[in-house]
Amino acid sequence: MKVLVVGKGGREHALCWRFNQSPSVWGVYCTSGSPGINQVAKPVAIAPGDFAGLIGFVREQKIDLTVVGPEEPLANGIVDEFARAGLTIFGPTRAAAQLESSKSFAKTVMREAGVPTAAFAIFDDAEAARRHVDAIARPCVVKADGLAYGKGVTVCDDAVQARAAIGEAMDARRFGAAGARIVIEDRLAGEELSFFALCDGDEAIALGCAQDHKAVFDGDRGPNTGGMGAYSPVPGYGAEFESRVMDEVVRPTLAAMRARGVPFRGVLFVGLMVDGDRINVLEYNVRFGDPECEPLMMRFEGDLGEALLAIAEGRARDAAVRLAPRPAVAVVLASGGYPGEYRIGLPIAGLERIDGAAPSDAKVRWAMERTRVKVFHAGTALAGTTLVTDGGRVLTVTAMADGLERAIAAAYEAAGLIEFEGMHLRRDVGRRALGRDAADR
Ligand SMILES: Nc1ncnc2c1ncn2[C@@H]1O[C@H](COP(=O)(O)OP(=O)(O)O)[C@@H](O)[C@H]1O
Ligand SMILES: [Mg+2]
Repeated sequence: MKVLVVGKGGREHALCWRFNQSPSVWGVYCTSGSPGINQVAKPVAIAPGDFAGLIGFVREQKIDLTVVGPEEPLANGIVDEFARAGLTIFGPTRAAAQLESSKSFAKTVMREAGVPTAAFAIFDDAEAARRHVDAIARPCVVKADGLAYGKGVTVCDDAVQARAAIGEAMDARRFGAAGARIVIEDRLAGEELSFFALCDGDEAIALGCAQDHKAVFDGDRGPNTGGMGAYSPVPGYGAEFESRVMDEVVRPTLAAMRARGVPFRGVLFVGLMVDGDRINVLEYNVRFGDPECEPLMMRFEGDLGEALLAIAEGRARDAAVRLAPRPAVAVVLASGGYPGEYRIGLPIAGLERIDGAAPSDAKVRWAMERTRVKVFHAGTALAGTTLVTDGGRVLTVTAMADGLERAIAAAYEAAGLIEFEGMHLRRDVGRRALGRDAADR
């Protein structure tokens, strides 16, 4: 089959890379490609938002399956347009994508489904919201309803902070129309985890847990980014935990969506807060996370093309999905200054020592140790023949090994072979889980 991937970051590179290794897939295309993606897929110069252009391309090239990486085209109805054109696409419809694009919709579905989540209230009026935070007088979280690219949520200690957050979202409209409505919910404590499931509308297949690192600096300090690293699986959250999340969260959510007449197809990415025995849902996303997708794709065994096609066609039962039990770790190499201002166009050195044709000592040793290392491109470009930086997040160095400690070591060793001016990375990706990993064994 021929597959089109929509998007061009590290997540989409990982998807293209895995599709390229699928026995059933003989053609991989990607909008709009990157120097890394172009090694495993053919670039297509059509914007992810140009649905008519994409549909024309898919018809002309007889693409069998389209897979969407980012949330924006999903929230804007790419799946509805493809379905109307009779084309097969993996992802939720616009209405189902509201699980991510509207926090009030998501909370309402959680309530209908009986999914455990923080107590909440929804406001369209800033004054009413302010009265509410004064009245509840406990730590809360203020969330802009719509898509705000990870900036629309303020975790507050008290009513003063909550009032400020309400003002920013609703009066100052810092997140535009996304803040016209807000959700105010109780602040929860615990350990944050991401859980992923592939859903066909009726049934779901668990991909298990990952943990990401959103803050820019070690020890979760500094402003939030798109994600500075991730690892999967998460020690201490194995099969038993997975089946609890499937029973308490994923299946009830799918049932509630079906009951609403908006069955959910695609990747359900559940943000969890776990406190002892209590599991609470913080949010849903309707696509793979980036960089969580990179370790998941590295662990994915079997034919990704066949699996996602089956799920897109509502036949999850036929999908052979298995993840290697071995842990994988992704470390993001970012531009200096990110998530603030940063320079682009800076030459990147050292990739050939990891990925290139000539095996370096590191490659040989990694092979002997059954360690796999792959560098996914998040924001790179070619200036002539030179690979240069072209975004805040530049590369995602991903390693899989026997044991989390080895995977972390391999990812950092590979990262150490790469250089560009101002390169920034977190040094503590996966570190917090290490103690637990040892305890598990
Ligand atoms: N109820 C809550 N209690 C404590 N922290 C929360 C709560 N809701 C969200 N957060 C924190 O805020 C972050 C962002 O919230 P989330 O709902 O995931 O929105 P988004 O990812 O769209 O910005 C979460 O990763 C979590 O750290
Ligand atoms: Mg989130």
